[in-house]
Amino acid sequence: MTRDTAAYKAKVTDAFNEAAAIYDRMGVEFFTPMGRRLVERAAPRPGERVLDIGCGLGATLLPAARLIGPAGRALGVDIAPAMVEEARREAGRQGIGNVEVRVMDGEHPDLPARSFDLILGSYSVIFLPDARAALARFARLLADGGRIAFTSPVFARDTFPFLPPMFTELIPLDLLRHLPESWHPEQLHRQLHSWLEHPADLTAALRRAGFTDVRIADEPVPMTAASGTAWVDWSHTQGMRLLWQHLPGEEAAALRTRLVTALDALREGDGPVRIEVPVRYVTATVAR
Ligand SMILES: C[S@@+](CC[C@H](N)C(=O)[O-])C[C@H]1O[C@@H](n2cnc3c(N)ncnc32)[C@H](O)[C@@H]1O
Repeated sequence: MTRDTAAYKAKVTDAFNEAAAIYDRMGVEFFTPMGRRLVERAAPRPGERVLDIGCGLGATLLPAARLIGPAGRALGVDIAPAMVEEARREAGRQGIGNVEVRVMDGEHPDLPARSFDLILGSYSVIFLPDARAALARFARLLADGGRIAFTSPVFARDTFPFLPPMFTELIPLDLLRHLPESWHPEQLHRQLHSWLEHPADLTAALRRAGFTDVRIADEPVPMTAASGTAWVDWSHTQGMRLLWQHLPGEEAAALRTRLVTALDALREGDGPVRIEVPVRYVTATVAR
């Protein structure tokens, strides 16, 4: 691993360690419905062995574990120890016994070849600095006929990474100059996401990694937040935390006001803010 990659992973780990206690528990529904939908598309069968890369608190891991039943086993790995701890607690709270969670860099999974039937990754593959190389490692972990299913944002060059297009006007892209260089939009697209942007590139990357039967479907996840303030507070607990952490105080305060006002304007009376977030669902089967 280069020094840059190690520093980037340390930042991602810190951000998710800090967010773990409140991650996805801020009265904003997004990761949970997206995870449920991904599992629906991946259709785990009773008795299967499932690996969830970047499992977070288990938005995909736990519904998948339920479907594979007591004869199956589900392993969730995450780079952030606090996320793993919370996921373990959540599995216990929900009384799900066929789940194991481990701290691991999902880009280099230290696991036996051909030992899984299904690999999942919801909004996590996007965090891997060389995700295309990781896909080939994932293919090796799959038994013959094994499947992969992951989500990503629907990236476009001129939209803020991780956010639906309506935020482009609210979060001027020049604010991203405060981010570490590897998170600048052009860098992000070149280094991390360009292959995810166009379905043809994504299909080619999966084929090169050893997959076939690639299916890509863009579908909105209806996100709800109790208010503009609730959404902004929630945004500190996901990928956007990296922006909040790097914005100087005055610009952060101005951005907060702008977002709260614009989001509250979308509400009907005391109703929640509803935002359609385009999500890309990708499924493929290992080519053997
Ligand atoms: C946006 S969260 C998604 C979590 C979960 N899949 C969900 O849908 O709620 C991204 C997760 O990926 C994890 N992650 C980032 N880089 C990783 C890596 N190299 N290896 C394993 N996990 C990683 C983060 O710690 C975080 O828990």
